[in-house]
Amino acid sequence: MLAVSDLHVRYEDNRAVVEALRPASDEDWLLVAGDVGDHMADVEWALSTLASRFSRVVWVPGNHELWTHPDDPVRARGVARYEALVRLCRSLGVTTPEDPYPVWHGAGGPAVVVPLFLLYDYSFRRPGVRSAEEALRLADEAGVVATDEFLLRPDPYASVVEWCRARLRLTAARLDALPADLPTVLVSHFPLVREPTEVLRFPDFALWCGTEATADWPVRYRAAAVVYGHLHIPRLIRKQGVPHYEVSLGYPREWSRRADPGHTPRVLPEFSAPGPGERRLGPGSDEGRPRPGAGEFRSRPRSGEERPGFGGGRS
Ligand SMILES: [Fe+2]
Ligand SMILES: [Fe+2]
Repeated sequence: MLAVSDLHVRYEDNRAVVEALRPASDEDWLLVAGDVGDHMADVEWALSTLASRFSRVVWVPGNHELWTHPDDPVRARGVARYEALVRLCRSLGVTTPEDPYPVWHGAGGPAVVVPLFLLYDYSFRRPGVRSAEEALRLADEAGVVATDEFLLRPDPYASVVEWCRARLRLTAARLDALPADLPTVLVSHFPLVREPTEVLRFPDFALWCGTEATADWPVRYRAAAVVYGHLHIPRLIRKQGVPHYEVSLGYPREWSRRADPGHTPRVLPEFSAPGPGERRLGPGSDEGRPRPGAGEFRSRPRSGEERPGFGGGRS
C-alpha cells in the first residue's frame, strides 16, 4: 500500500511525475491524500491515469480540489463541488470518503482504509489564543492569510468551521461503527495531530491545517498508520506509537531539491528502515520546510513595511 499527496498537476513538471508513477506489483493500492489539482479536468486526468495502473486508488479531497478557481470552467462551490468530485471519482472507480471503507488484506493487513474529509476549524492556534476570531485577527496583523479564504467556499454552510464540524460528526459515527478489533489506515489531506505544523515557517498558517478535534483519533480508532499531506514537508513522525506519514510531492521548486521526488512511501506493511532514496526527516529538521507561495498561502505586507517574503527572518 503506497501513498502520495499534493500532486498539484497544474505544473507540467508535476504531471511528468504522475506519468512516471507505477505500482511495484499488480496488487498495490495507492492512497492519494488530496491537492491533486485546482481544476476539475486536471483532477480527472491525474486520477484516471493512476486508476488505470493501481489495483485500487483511494482519494480524499485537499483544499485545492475544493477551490472554485477563477480559471476553472467548473464553477461549483462548496458541498456541490465536493459532490461533483465524488461523482467524478466514482466514474473512474476511485474510492472516496463517501464510499464503504475498503479493507486491505495484503501484506501488513488486515486494515480498513478510511479516507477522511474533515477540513479545519482554526483550532491550531498560538498558545493562549482562545478563539478562532482572535487567531485570524492576529494572523491578519502578521500579514498571513491562506488562499483558501478567497477560493474555498463553504456553501451551503455559513463557514468552513461549520462544514468541518458536520464532517467530524458524521465521520466519527462511521468510525465508531467499525469492528473494534480491526486496525485502520487513516487518510486525510490535513494532519490529524498538531505536531507536524510545529515546523511551519509561519506558525499562523497552522490555522488552515487541521483541527484539535482529531487529536485522539489515531489511538481511539486503532490506526496502524496515518497518511496526510498539505504541508509539503514529507516526513515521518510517530506519536503514541502510531506512524504519521506526510506524503506530499509539492511544488516543483520544493521537490526539485530532493533526491527522489517521485518516491511514494509504503504505508503497509510498515517499513522499519529507510529504503534506497527514502527520506526520513526528523521533527525540527530544516530540510523540507515549506516555501509557501502563491498556490497555497499568501503573505501580505503590513502598512509601511516591506513585503516580508517567505525567506524572511521568521520561523
Ligand atoms: Fe498542497
Ligand atoms: Fe493543501
